[in-house]
Amino acid sequence: MYETHSVEPVKDVDVEKRVIRPLASTPNNDFYMSIRDSERIMNPECFSAEVTQFLHDERNHLTKVLLQEQYECIIEVGCHAGHNSEWLAALCTQYIGVDINKAAIDHALQKKPRSGCIDFLCTSVEKLRSLVLPEGKYPRRKLVLFPFNLFGNFINVVELIEMLDMAGVDLAMSNFNTRSDTTIGRYNYYVNCFGNSSIRVYDAEQGVLFKAGQKFRSIAYKPEYLTKLVHDISRHHGIITPFSTYGDLFLLTT
Ligand SMILES: C[S@@+](CC[C@H](N)C(=O)[O-])C[C@H]1O[C@@H](n2cnc3c(N)ncnc32)[C@H](O)[C@@H]1O
Repeated sequence: MYETHSVEPVKDVDVEKRVIRPLASTPNNDFYMSIRDSERIMNPECFSAEVTQFLHDERNHLTKVLLQEQYECIIEVGCHAGHNSEWLAALCTQYIGVDINKAAIDHALQKKPRSGCIDFLCTSVEKLRSLVLPEGKYPRRKLVLFPFNLFGNFINVVELIEMLDMAGVDLAMSNFNTRSDTTIGRYNYYVNCFGNSSIRVYDAEQGVLFKAGQKFRSIAYKPEYLTKLVHDISRHHGIITPFSTYGDLFLLTT
């Protein structure tokens, strides 16, 4: 199933039209390594109704898709304190949660069940290579999952896609879509996290980009942009399934 969404005009949110190339040079990793900033973006009290619905529908949709796919190993990047670990672990034989934020991973490790099929690691996505290689210690049939629009936070997406292609792992990216309802829901979410004075919204060539202050950037990719990028630089191919009103799931295999 494939459905494209163009960027719709958004009432009540001041969107600047811009071609943004390269994506940006904002150091998101510094942002997420700070306990306070990372806590706010992952705090359910900051979620707008649209974001809460996105996360609810993301879980239902992923459960259906992953039940069919039967991966041996799921690596969740941006697992934070492990709130998705138990239901994802039930869908594979080995779950590994990875996050750049040490406080979040310490919290996840404290709550972790003794069972060996759940593991947490504090590392950045840029250092995933050793985890995903086929000769590594984890089962071979692996999926690398980027939930909650995390993929739209990365700067070096070309290097990242190339690395995952070389490792031959499947990819799932659960992204916000570019519909106006979603943009309004994201705006309210980021205002709850950062206050409205620091939020900028751009109608960019690649999708709808939000920035907050000097350190945070997050883009909701247009499916056609991300599909072309992946097609041009890697062997990955697959399907995009829109879920709920607010999200698109990209499931890509090599
Ligand atoms: C899932 S993302 C949330 C994105 C946000 N919802 C948005 O609208 O863009 C946040 C989680 O990803 C983690 N994270 C961010 N950058 C990362 C990186 N480079 N490597 C691993 N984890 C990262 C953060 O520490 C945090 O726990």
